[in-house]
Amino acid sequence: MLHEETIGTTRTGPYSEEDIGSTHLHHQYRVDLRIPTLKEYSQFITLNTVRDWSQLSWTKIGKPYQVEASAKERSEWENEHHRDMDPHTSWTYFNKAFHEWFVKDVPKEMTQSKKQFLNNLRSFSPPEVKHAIGDLIRIHLWNYVHRIQDGIWDPRGKRALFEGLHLNKPRVLFLGAAEGYEAMQFGAMYPGAEIIMVDYDEYCKSTRFAEFPDRYPFLGENPQTGQTKVVYKNDLNIEYQIADIRDLDYGAEFDVVMSVGLLEHFPDEHKYEVCDWHRKFLKPGGYAILTTPRNQLRSRLYYRVMADVMNHTYRELMTVEQMGLYLYESGFDIKRHGYIKVHNGIICQPR
Ligand SMILES: C[S@@+](CC[C@H](N)C(=O)[O-])C[C@H]1O[C@@H](n2cnc3c(N)ncnc32)[C@H](O)[C@@H]1O
Repeated sequence: MLHEETIGTTRTGPYSEEDIGSTHLHHQYRVDLRIPTLKEYSQFITLNTVRDWSQLSWTKIGKPYQVEASAKERSEWENEHHRDMDPHTSWTYFNKAFHEWFVKDVPKEMTQSKKQFLNNLRSFSPPEVKHAIGDLIRIHLWNYVHRIQDGIWDPRGKRALFEGLHLNKPRVLFLGAAEGYEAMQFGAMYPGAEIIMVDYDEYCKSTRFAEFPDRYPFLGENPQTGQTKVVYKNDLNIEYQIADIRDLDYGAEFDVVMSVGLLEHFPDEHKYEVCDWHRKFLKPGGYAILTTPRNQLRSRLYYRVMADVMNHTYRELMTVEQMGLYLYESGFDIKRHGYIKVHNGIICQPR
């Protein structure tokens, strides 16, 4: 059972190793301390579908799907400024809009939006009813995708992707870190990790990362026993830097360089530069780890319904083959590739 009152004893959060195996719904997210058995493993990750990357070509696999629906805030900004919204501004809008959903009390908002919908229905005003239906659909979709399915954080899928790398107290650089979830999950699994998160939107450090719940439990490893351990944000060694990735002056000094949802925001003419960002800070033998959203029907639907929250920037959905081919053509050897609930994942090393 989950004991809120245990905070303040030797634990740094409300869960302990006794809770491993359990899951429950918090009003903002799912707490998931389940560990898949070997048999269940394939439900959370599909691995290594491509045998020989040199045999793939763009003619065979096609190019990614470009998401067309744009956020209202973006169109309004562009009408007002008579120019395209630049990427940095787009990210500041995106991060604010996205964060507002992570901090919602979802059950409460579902009840409120149902009430609002019924009230508006009684008003017989079609625009108000349409607006209320939109709100109702979005909160239910968010509840399903983020809370019920846990598709965005997907701890079991991410752990399956990250596990088993030969790393000792790795230095990890997270490019475009936003709230930093994946580097925290990674750091929990590789004890002693030193994590540097980088994002040029200062709201990511001041609000998205700062407000990431201290009490959210990550499953990681106990370095003393090798057993599974519950790890919290504040147990980890994290430095958050507000900087443009293009201005970083690190050398080749990281064991891992990772990004989550970055590559797909650049049209093809910039993709190889983005791949290179993942190479230039790696020590010899280091790993680049990238994930991008999958091109699947339900994801296309999600980005259409949630356009006002998600689509301030250029965005593509791709297959793991497409993602891997960009990396392969950029001079990486693909060591592990696969897909989890809503993202593709690749672990690769410079050739
Ligand atoms: C799509 S988000 C990453 C997805 C993330 N998991 C989330 O939940 O939002 C990409 C992040 O990269 C950052 N970013 C994009 N280009 C950047 C650059 N040149 N330098 C630093 N950060 C950048 C954005 O500010 C944004 O927070």
